[in-house]
Amino acid sequence: MVRGMILGTGRCLPQRVLTNAELEQRVDTSDEWITTRTGIRRRRIAGPGETTSHLAAEAARRALEMAGMSAEEIGLIVVGTISCEIAMPSCACLVQRELGARRAFAFDINAACCGFTYSLDLADRYVRADPDLKVLVIGAETLSSRTNWEDRNTCVLFGDGAGACVVGAGEGGAGVVASRLHADGELWQLLYMEAAPSMNPELARPDNPGPFIQMAGRDVFRHAVRSMAEVVGEVLDAAGVAADDLALVIPHQANIRIIHALADRLGLPADKVCVNVHEYGNTSAASVPIALDEANRAGRLAPGDLVLLCTFGAGLTWGAVLYRW
Ligand code: ACO
Repeated sequence: MVRGMILGTGRCLPQRVLTNAELEQRVDTSDEWITTRTGIRRRRIAGPGETTSHLAAEAARRALEMAGMSAEEIGLIVVGTISCEIAMPSCACLVQRELGARRAFAFDINAACCGFTYSLDLADRYVRADPDLKVLVIGAETLSSRTNWEDRNTCVLFGDGAGACVVGAGEGGAGVVASRLHADGELWQLLYMEAAPSMNPELARPDNPGPFIQMAGRDVFRHAVRSMAEVVGEVLDAAGVAADDLALVIPHQANIRIIHALADRLGLPADKVCVNVHEYGNTSAASVPIALDEANRAGRLAPGDLVLLCTFGAGLTWGAVLYRW
């Protein structure tokens, strides 16, 4: 059976590190509050030239290099992002241009922090339908550009970065085993970001709070734990495997307490759960592919290993992908 198989992974983080101590100088917060409530110690913040599309292209270049492939072999580029430097065309088109991937068609997926899992699921389905296709799947964000740096409730949480993988047809068991994706638009106001103000006065929203992330943190927290635990259960059932069979879980890196609560519900020991939220904060769609590349390059993945990726985000959206390495 043909499955979408990861042929190479890559990541790109901005140079600049922003510590909790520096945030103490900007807003009424403390390293102690941020660390105990979120697990975050520092995050990367984009500097000159480190746009979302550039970070995405750089991560993709490294994934292509690992796969031993050229950009011209890529037939499709999908970027999960909510923070590209321009609204139109897509970030994927900018990546296509920067890489010189002339044969690829390209588009973005807006599923917030689930952008990468949604895109990987899509790539798997494309590759099953067209086994010659090679897909670049990227999660990339510069949420620093969408953060209200005077709002302590949100500005301590986010960071910038990109992760990528090349997906092609695999046979012999390696690849995407099962995936489940969900959304509940009824809950959109728990976590959202306004678009640019409307130029049509009929559509202008008088209560537009500006193009920053708005979040009901406690509610999002509750939904995150419950929905990720449920979707992980669904995907394990679909594949007929147990949590014990997993070699590694790569959850969305939003908050260490969410990650610990999920691990507790699944009965997973700490060494089976990838954590880098202390280094990068919440990089939204980039968080899972960054952690995946770190795990891959650190040799944490062996052939035959079952790896579980799970995410939640604005929408609300949530999903899980079970992958055999
Ligand atoms: N420093 C100090 N105090 C703070 C800060 C801060 N940075 N931020 C909030 N506080 C205060 C609040 O004002 C509140 O004070 P009050 O009680 O006087 O009103 C107090 O701390 C407690 O606030 P809570 O919201 O109850 O804190 P909580 O323990 O829930 O932690 C947090 C907040 C970290 C946001 C948590 O709710 C969380 O992680 N939620 C999930 C968020 C998330 O994962 N979002 C991901 C999606 S992002 C995306 O999709 C792009």
